[in-house]
Amino acid sequence: MATPPPEQGPESAQRTQQEARRGAFSSRRVFILAAIGSAVGLGNIWRFPYVAYENGGGAFVIPYLIALLTAGLPFLFVDYALGHKHRGSAPLSFARESPRTEVLGWWQVAICFVIAVYYAAIIGWALRYTFFSVDKAWGSDPGGFFSGDFLQTSAPGVTADVVVGVLVPLLIVWAAVLLIMGLGVQKGIGATSVVFIPLLVLAFGFLVVRSLFLPGAADGLDALFTPDWGALTDASVWAAAFGQIFFSLSIGFGIMITYASYVGRRTDMTGSGLVVGFANSGFELLAGIGVFAALGFMAQANGTAVDEVVQSGIGLAFVAFPAIISEAAGGSVIGVLFFGSLVIAGLTSLVSVLEVVVSAVRDKFDLQRVTAVLVVGVPATALSVVLFSTTSGLHVLDIVDFFINRFGILFVAVVAMVVLAWGVRALPGLATHLNHHGSIRLSRGWIVLVSVVAPLALGFVLLRDFLDTLEKPYGDYPAWMLNVFGWGSAALVLAAAVVVTFLGRRADTPADNTRKEADR
Ligand code: ALA
Repeated sequence: MATPPPEQGPESAQRTQQEARRGAFSSRRVFILAAIGSAVGLGNIWRFPYVAYENGGGAFVIPYLIALLTAGLPFLFVDYALGHKHRGSAPLSFARESPRTEVLGWWQVAICFVIAVYYAAIIGWALRYTFFSVDKAWGSDPGGFFSGDFLQTSAPGVTADVVVGVLVPLLIVWAAVLLIMGLGVQKGIGATSVVFIPLLVLAFGFLVVRSLFLPGAADGLDALFTPDWGALTDASVWAAAFGQIFFSLSIGFGIMITYASYVGRRTDMTGSGLVVGFANSGFELLAGIGVFAALGFMAQANGTAVDEVVQSGIGLAFVAFPAIISEAAGGSVIGVLFFGSLVIAGLTSLVSVLEVVVSAVRDKFDLQRVTAVLVVGVPATALSVVLFSTTSGLHVLDIVDFFINRFGILFVAVVAMVVLAWGVRALPGLATHLNHHGSIRLSRGWIVLVSVVAPLALGFVLLRDFLDTLEKPYGDYPAWMLNVFGWGSAALVLAAAVVVTFLGRRADTPADNTRKEADR
């Protein structure tokens, strides 16, 4: 790997100072753990099993793997290259690639803000369930308990009735996240990942093995891995698979750009990317196996088929695992480990989602870290409380999660691929950068995947899904709710991005475009 000598000019010194102020991970190991901490989150443990369940069960694994190989991993390298080459938050990295693309970075930042606001609510539920596990508070009906006794879910609509049992853990989650972030990139984000990720692997590995020994587990695994080829003709299943990959790998919405900007210049980025990508998907499949084994167990206990056993999509993890906890020997310990894992995995991911916003705000407005954390964190906490601690929180969360993943994350990903590949012709430069800083050589195949295969596949899937969603509105929600929280949030993130982009560009942007390859 050829590493050019650093440039000595005043511009280079200014950039070094700027980097020192932004903060950095102390080593490649810490970066990899933080990136795995970001990728492995609620998306793997809470979201993947129910998305797989709702999209054909076994059939889902096929589009999932295709999406991972054709779009997920190739796009992970785009994120890494942008952040590592330009050493800035998402908007700054895009702007340094070409000032005309800055808006894409802000679009990603706005998406992260929306995700953080609902993501914290689910971690809050998991925190509460960690304590519920001790005395198995859900009794004999975990499904009814989750949406009824615990969330006190209203009929579809919006209410202002706060549920104290949801509000308190939500506030604790926000306090913990803001504290970690206030401590900085290494002392907060890095140090938390170094402790939490090994813990998570141990706790979760133990749980999955335990669930495999439950009676009926094999039927659940059959349901997960038996392909239903018919589902593969459904665009919505493909959109769900691409959406899951992007959400789960933390790509396309600024996270990996931001984290890659905190890594030493000599770090092997492509090797690290493969470690992170396969660790994430491995963990995801493990979570699917654990939850489906539990579903098989529940089905056998109820004398029904696996696909009839759980109705609630979004609450699947909050229904399936309590069922094992109630039945299995040592259930309370299993419960504390499972929901504790969900909290740990969720926190390390939430930190990364919010870091996208914090680092962008810092770069743009030149703020101290703690000030930026408060400027971003206080409104995010307030919005999270208003929307998700009430009896209508579950409905709003379900709608926002569906729309922001498709018409936020996937949409910006397609646009970013097309703009980077065809608009500003950035891919050869990004490939050169990664080839200087990686153990795995990117060839023309990578450029073809990112510029042609992935945008075509993703663009087609997204368009079909958009038309399908127009034709058959999502869920059983009133149209106004879908318009406000679904289409509305997807439109709002784009509008916000355009406004912030034109609030004034960073002074260093044009000069950075002229710097030499040696500095890259
Ligand atoms: N990648 C994170 C997750 O899977 C956002 O939850």
